[in-house]
Amino acid sequence: MKWPILKGKTLVLGITGSIATYRAADLTRALKKEGVDVHIVMTKNSCQFITPLTMQVLSENPVRVELFDLKSEEIGHIATARMADVLVVAPATANIMAKAAHGIADDYLSTILLAATSPVLFCPAMNPAMYHHPATQENIRILKNRGNFVLEPEAGSVVCGEEGKGRFPPIERIIHEIAYILTPKTLKGKKVLISAGPTREFFDPVRFISNPSSGKMGFALAGVACLRGAAVHLVSGPVTLEPPPGVQVYNVVSAKDMYDAVMSLAPNMDVIIMAAAVGDYRPEKVMSSKIKKKLSKVEISLVQNPDILASIGANKRDNQVVVGFAAETDNLLENAEKKLRKKRLDFIVANDVTKPGCGFFYDTNQVKILMPGGKVEEVPRMSKQEVADKIIDLVEKTLKSKKSDE
Ligand code: PMT
Repeated sequence: MKWPILKGKTLVLGITGSIATYRAADLTRALKKEGVDVHIVMTKNSCQFITPLTMQVLSENPVRVELFDLKSEEIGHIATARMADVLVVAPATANIMAKAAHGIADDYLSTILLAATSPVLFCPAMNPAMYHHPATQENIRILKNRGNFVLEPEAGSVVCGEEGKGRFPPIERIIHEIAYILTPKTLKGKKVLISAGPTREFFDPVRFISNPSSGKMGFALAGVACLRGAAVHLVSGPVTLEPPPGVQVYNVVSAKDMYDAVMSLAPNMDVIIMAAAVGDYRPEKVMSSKIKKKLSKVEISLVQNPDILASIGANKRDNQVVVGFAAETDNLLENAEKKLRKKRLDFIVANDVTKPGCGFFYDTNQVKILMPGGKVEEVPRMSKQEVADKIIDLVEKTLKSKKSDE
């Protein structure tokens, strides 16, 4: 599971008639995979593009199209509007946004939009000229000013062959937006610095010493902190991941680069989490040209890199929360405990990187979280997003306890 906040939520998905209507099927499947209870309302026009039967099979719930259903005993549209934790219209045509902006309720979907008390997200998809038309833009402004969310469409070539903004967004972007809307903003006003990924220590222009860190753990932490409303600064070594939306990224290569970036940001941060696998050593000498293969043996002498986390710990303010990771191959708790004390951390996340499905590169992790008093919290194997959720929960708890000590 990638988005723990979505599990068990009830989502009403409004589908309107557009060439992108079929993408609502992909969206429904992706939401179901996240454990969302999806209830679908289709406009009559959308049924020209995809059948209610398809959507019923995918959502595993009855699909609503007709406003007046004589079989139903309840006032269907009010009950549907009220059951939702979030109402999403995807794709949203210019027509449905115009109706919602002006309070027109002449079919099931437009009626529940008027009756909704949950947050509403519109995902417009249409021809670029229709999207940029002043009427559509004015309607979007009205909807946003009323507190609705509108996800901008993607730019590119649309089905009719024209170029511009109007493409249905990737499913992942929509799901991220829904997760953002549903997540309470418990870290609003907080500045969070997270490091992620490996470092590279070059010994000639084309060769370096590094480690297998993919950045997934650090990026998951950045994503969770951002969903909870923090201003997130992510210092990352070389990785191939897309950063979570809304996060400010600082790309670095070596441990020295990471030290400079982290130390310049650290004094202004409320929370610092070092998930990066920082190279402990770097080659003493860096050759200016490629070492030739004709040498049968090359010896590389290594010198120690600065310990970033130890420097942060040494300079930490009383109201700052500083968290470290420990990647260990043996004596997990003993080694992690030493790092916790030496680096003056609020807690440390201990990773036994020899376990399958745990540590470097995997999508999952299994950790033990050590607190200064000796308390240990066991986090069983779960997705890195879920582990990140647990770590950020503990960060919030630590922030609160520091505030009450002030
Ligand atoms: O990126 P992934 O593929 O998702 O993998 C995740 C991970 C295994 C990299 C992550 O969960 C993890 O364990 N990160 C810490 C790796 C590490 O460098 O551990 P360490 O025990 O060597 O270092 C202890 C702590 O000091 C870490 O917080 C580290 O960031 C920090 N450190 C280490 C050396 C150094 N020179 N400066 C540091 O700040």
